Amino acid sequence: MAHETVTGDAFENLLREKRQFAPSPEFAAAANVHEGIYAEANADPEAFWAAQARERLTWSKDFSQTLDWSDPPFAKWFVGGEVNAAYNALDRHVENGLGDRVAIHFEGEPGDTETITYADLTERVKRAANAFESLGVAKGDRVAVYLPMIPEAVVTMLACARIGAIHSVVFGGFSSEALRSRIDDAEAKLVVTADGTYRRGKPSPLKPAVDEALAEDGHTVQHVVVVRRNGQDVAWTEGRDLDWSEVMGAASAEHTAVGHDAEHPLFILYTSGTTGKPKGILHTTGGYLTQTAFTHSAVFDLKPETDVYWCTADIGWVTGHSYVAYAPLVNGATQVMYEGTPDSPHQGRWWEIVQKYKVSVLYTAPTAIRTMMKWGSDIPAKYDLSSIRVLGSVGEPINPEAWMWYREVIGGNGGRREERAPIVDTWWQTETGAIMIAPLPGITATKPGSAQVPLPGIAVDVVDEAGQPVPDGHGGFLVIRKPWPAMLRTIWGDPERFKDTYWSRFEGMYFAGDGAKKDDDGDIWLLGRVDDVMNVSGHRLSTTEIESALVSHPWVAEAAVVGAADETTGQAVVAFVILRGEASIPEGEDPAAVLRAHVGHEIGPIAKPRHILVVPELPKTRSGKIMRRLLKDVAEGRDPGDATTLADPTVMHKIAQDLRK
Ligand code: WT7
Repeated sequence: MAHETVTGDAFENLLREKRQFAPSPEFAAAANVHEGIYAEANADPEAFWAAQARERLTWSKDFSQTLDWSDPPFAKWFVGGEVNAAYNALDRHVENGLGDRVAIHFEGEPGDTETITYADLTERVKRAANAFESLGVAKGDRVAVYLPMIPEAVVTMLACARIGAIHSVVFGGFSSEALRSRIDDAEAKLVVTADGTYRRGKPSPLKPAVDEALAEDGHTVQHVVVVRRNGQDVAWTEGRDLDWSEVMGAASAEHTAVGHDAEHPLFILYTSGTTGKPKGILHTTGGYLTQTAFTHSAVFDLKPETDVYWCTADIGWVTGHSYVAYAPLVNGATQVMYEGTPDSPHQGRWWEIVQKYKVSVLYTAPTAIRTMMKWGSDIPAKYDLSSIRVLGSVGEPINPEAWMWYREVIGGNGGRREERAPIVDTWWQTETGAIMIAPLPGITATKPGSAQVPLPGIAVDVVDEAGQPVPDGHGGFLVIRKPWPAMLRTIWGDPERFKDTYWSRFEGMYFAGDGAKKDDDGDIWLLGRVDDVMNVSGHRLSTTEIESALVSHPWVAEAAVVGAADETTGQAVVAFVILRGEASIPEGEDPAAVLRAHVGHEIGPIAKPRHILVVPELPKTRSGKIMRRLLKDVAEGRDPGDATTLADPTVMHKIAQDLRK
């Protein structure tokens, strides 16, 4: 049976989660959007998006057609319209008298700070636009951005957008090889980087990776602009390398933004596929800005006059594009930008920042939430978090335990139950450009662990193997039935791969690569990538669900589950767990045995891991995703090989060492 690939009895456990938290009447009454928005948008999605485009953005030329879908899967939104992203994020707010509003509260990792108003940021972007133009960067040229989380990253992205250059941000944690392959694929003319950044109080270099990437000839880069961030000595290639402050100092602060076609490329962002080289996901201007701005306002209930918004994502990921560099500024919000890690100089750093800036909307990832859980609730309890009124989650399914912890400990508002901050679990992808599935905090009664509802105007469905919609209470594959404004337009330089990857699995539908289930109310629960599904003795099991069961045990902080090849059963469940620091395990108890029994109890005997390995860390990419592939290698007795894309490349070594013991 078709949809059994991603469903089965095992999922029932997750779906037994029946708690629901309705918004308070006060929150609902004051919310940016109200119930009627669904009916309005779904009755005529194109009219809805056209209205959003005109309401949220200032167009230099109005569009004449909302959607051109005459050549699927290649969409054109807001045909004939012209719009400048930087003008919308900056100049128009200054023209509207908001120049003194803080755009960015920058908090450097060593504790240095900077307050940047909309007027300041506009001037910096104008200078950068002039500077890049003077270096020969023209409309349509590509600019590689390899920067830490510092204001110059946002300035660079918006300056590119202003002049119609296409930025390609490469996460600062990627290696020189990864940088080079992205520079080559996009044929970048300019690289903007920094001498480095700070990590755990110490300077950490970036520019050497750029030098290495460009060491061999045959690249397209003409100049490298270098921000002096940590003051370390760096090698300098005369003629090629330029000092950011000198270049900016020489540039005029006057620059008039012109409108670009709604379909003019805004950026390329590389993301890894299941195989092969990274895909350059291409986003364009009008649709992307419309949907990111709308979702930022509706999903976070963002009030630009009063909220202080903080999205903890790095600029190197799509979340840092849509919900740091673009939407908050287009919406005129005040946001926090933080350069460092959550545990430096102490594990309360984030909560100190929330308290200091009175952050009211916090957007982060489940992996961070679980890490904080592991460190213990007494840490956030030391800070005043009462400013928080909306909490967001993104990047992977959030297990109900982490969700509840987030609600009680971070959004708990000093224990006043009725004032707890709503949690919005937001499902989307690099490819979707903007949030697609999420509760709306003033409308939806939230359920711990579920992203629940497609946004107004978004046609999400769950289908079986044959592409037929599954009934409520069943699982299948997550698809998107209709084009949406912020959708990727293609894979840079490879339209065939774009078609094959996303549009060939199901006729006329976008296939997201995720498994999902509709519960009895029709709400959507994301079950992880379909490639993480295991088959044990003919039973289908979700890695996510077993992980969720493991972390529901009070001893467990984090868990990763893989299906290891097994002669008899096809696959066997192998679990890697990190125990909580505060776990008090009775003398003589074997945690592995207790946890096996716990999983058996939570899901059923079939889901009991064959092996449970207690490990000190899990291998994670720098974006926080657990690298199950490496764990699978270990579980199957192979050398995990290349671990260079890990946030901490020594993790696999530690695990292997532990296993030998
Ligand atoms: C994949 C996309 C969207 C920005 C960060 C990740 C998973 C994302 C959720 C969520 C369950 C989620 C999916 C998706 N994912 N958000 N709220 N619940 N899963 O972007 O690196 O392009 O990854 O992340 O599996 O396909 P990305």
